[in-house]
Amino acid sequence: MSRTVYVNGDYLPEEEAKVSVFDRGFLMADGVYEVTSVLGGKLIDFDGHCKRLARSLTELEMTNPHSDAEWLAIHRELVARNGIDEGMVYLQVTRGNPGDRDFAYPPADTAPTVVLFTQAKPGLADSPAAKTGWRVISVPDIRWHRRDIKTVQLLYPSMAKMAAKKAGVDDAWLVEDGFVTEGTSNNAYIVKGNKIITRALSSDILHGITRAAVLRFAKEAQMEVEERNFTIDEAQKADEAFITSASAFVMPVVEIDGAAVGTGAVGRVATRMREIYLDEMRKAAV
Ligand code: PDD
Repeated sequence: MSRTVYVNGDYLPEEEAKVSVFDRGFLMADGVYEVTSVLGGKLIDFDGHCKRLARSLTELEMTNPHSDAEWLAIHRELVARNGIDEGMVYLQVTRGNPGDRDFAYPPADTAPTVVLFTQAKPGLADSPAAKTGWRVISVPDIRWHRRDIKTVQLLYPSMAKMAAKKAGVDDAWLVEDGFVTEGTSNNAYIVKGNKIITRALSSDILHGITRAAVLRFAKEAQMEVEERNFTIDEAQKADEAFITSASAFVMPVVEIDGAAVGTGAVGRVATRMREIYLDEMRKAAV
């Protein structure tokens, strides 16, 4: 069945939705995005995604085309029109269509292009993968150095994902100067005893919305949180590993570059953090 998508103020059947060939998102990857999960027909951590969207736009000198209340109304309308119970809403804002190709930004009053669509993912919260865990490989992190901005330039993460697929595993962890930065589209963690270790925030990684919530819940559950770099070697020797993202929530990682992490089975901490995250976020969903 055809989805209803949102383009610049209109709700349209996906076949009728169109964006210019001169769009800066298409020609220059000059745009930002957000992915918000939907559980029980409600949006998960919507405020967090709105705040990061605003920051990404500011960092790229783009005007936020909508207030948070307007963004919420558009998200809700799309969820309702597409009957989404579990899934995602994808949002993208580009610098719009200046009518030609040019490296210089178009005038600031050029209208941005705003696109949103839904993805139905029945069973998202009850993913069987959460019971078996992901296997990952490591690859060099050769992305640009403003990874804190959630831009649509995702070619290298796609290449890394393909390298993982070719290796027969689920994802890749990116490594720079000997330390793990993050996963292709998620933040990376290891667990040692009662301590959760994850890279500190900087322009080296995306400031995950799920990361912020999980670290808050971990502290509330009396777990220790240490924000520091770690290597693949340390991760392989850790008790547990996991990743977080808006679409995978908390996902255990049981193997890194062919070496089992801990017992090689899904760990207690990752499982508990997934439960707490899903419980708390369902309660706070809007
Ligand atoms: N990816 N790091 C990177 C590079 C990401 O692309 C993402 C999110 C994250 C996790 O951020 P959050 O918890 O806010 O989802 C970390 C989204 C889900 C995607 O590209 O589909």
